[in-house]
Amino acid sequence: MGFDQVGYFGEFGGRYSPEILTEALEELEATYKKLSKDKKFQKELAYYLKNYVGRPSPLSFAERLTKHWGGARIWLKREDLNHSGAHKINNAIGQALIARYMGKKRIIAETGAGQHGLATATVGAMFGMETVVYMGAVDVKRQNLNAKKIELLGAKILPVTSGEATLKEATSEAMRDWALNVSTTHYIVGSAIGPHPFPTIVRDLQSVIGIEARKQFKKERKTLPAAIVACVGGGSNSIGMFAGFLKDKSVKIYGAEAGGLGPKPGEHSATLTYGKTGFLHGTKTLIIQDEYGQIVPAHSVSAGLDYPGVGPEHAHLSKTGRVEYRMVTDEQALSSFIEVSRIEGIIPALETAHAFHVARDVAMDLGKKKDLIICLSGRGDKDVTEVLRLLGEGKHE
Ligand SMILES: Cc1ncc(COP(=O)(O)O)c(C=O)c1O
Repeated sequence: MGFDQVGYFGEFGGRYSPEILTEALEELEATYKKLSKDKKFQKELAYYLKNYVGRPSPLSFAERLTKHWGGARIWLKREDLNHSGAHKINNAIGQALIARYMGKKRIIAETGAGQHGLATATVGAMFGMETVVYMGAVDVKRQNLNAKKIELLGAKILPVTSGEATLKEATSEAMRDWALNVSTTHYIVGSAIGPHPFPTIVRDLQSVIGIEARKQFKKERKTLPAAIVACVGGGSNSIGMFAGFLKDKSVKIYGAEAGGLGPKPGEHSATLTYGKTGFLHGTKTLIIQDEYGQIVPAHSVSAGLDYPGVGPEHAHLSKTGRVEYRMVTDEQALSSFIEVSRIEGIIPALETAHAFHVARDVAMDLGKKKDLIICLSGRGDKDVTEVLRLLGEGKHE
């Protein structure tokens, strides 16, 4: 765990937030700096990750998928088996603990797919904290199971109807709430985005994925995988997975971003392919924007990837070429969603289905003697209704 000096990853990152938040961000930075070296905090975090989340998550060999694709041996890092069904809880637990150390009794979150909202509502209930979740009205509809679960857990959902009524607007509203209530409230940012120190905190809390996966794989195969793949929305499961392998030059790293319906502005969320440098939600990163610097609405069939920005560390990793980011269309993701369900008996989240699609191409290129790990970021229960509706409409067959 730790900071680079000023919260920059190469030219990206930093803190570009309204003045009203400066004090809260500085307090958070100082607290986290202390806690990241504090044995009691580390022990407490490890306790909850083991006993509440169920870590370590397994690294499973996907025998049928390996045979079906006919390329590299496929391994799955099973974040879908975490309590509440995705990687998001690794970060929510850590930040709720930090909030408790700071004496904050109220936590708020933004959510797209509902998994971060669900994780925050879960830890809010477990720690007895007042919890408010901002969710775009469109996402409340398409991720209705998660929205219902969040309310069942005692958290309040505030649907956001402005703009596209998806993740960007939910994030903006959560920031606004935080600015107004900073003395009592901690904003649990759900991805590796936002002003410093959030991208670093979220990466550190999610790095448990990559650190575990590397150790588990080495134990099993006595070597390193040839490649790893993860999907990229804001970029938290991926940066957590990548963090374990970035220094291993022999390991190829791939990110899967949402190619949506096509390459036209407004049809995709492929920030790393089409984005230009700009500022969004307090950080300098790659953003989908028009020639006047106006943010162009994002689109993805998966609510968790439907965001016009990306975590600044990914922008840096893309610029330096350490990670290769590939686009996956809605249609390709839907077909991987069905394929993985039928071949492997695992219904992946629609977000994760994007990673499977890239993994299939990479596995075929690598050939049979190599190994590839996919970060299975979450389970797809939340997506079943929406996928059946889309298939029923015949849009994506
Ligand atoms: C299962 C799952 N995977 C991936 C994502 C994308 O987020 P991130 O890029 O922060 O991992 C989400 C977002 O909601 C998600 O629910």
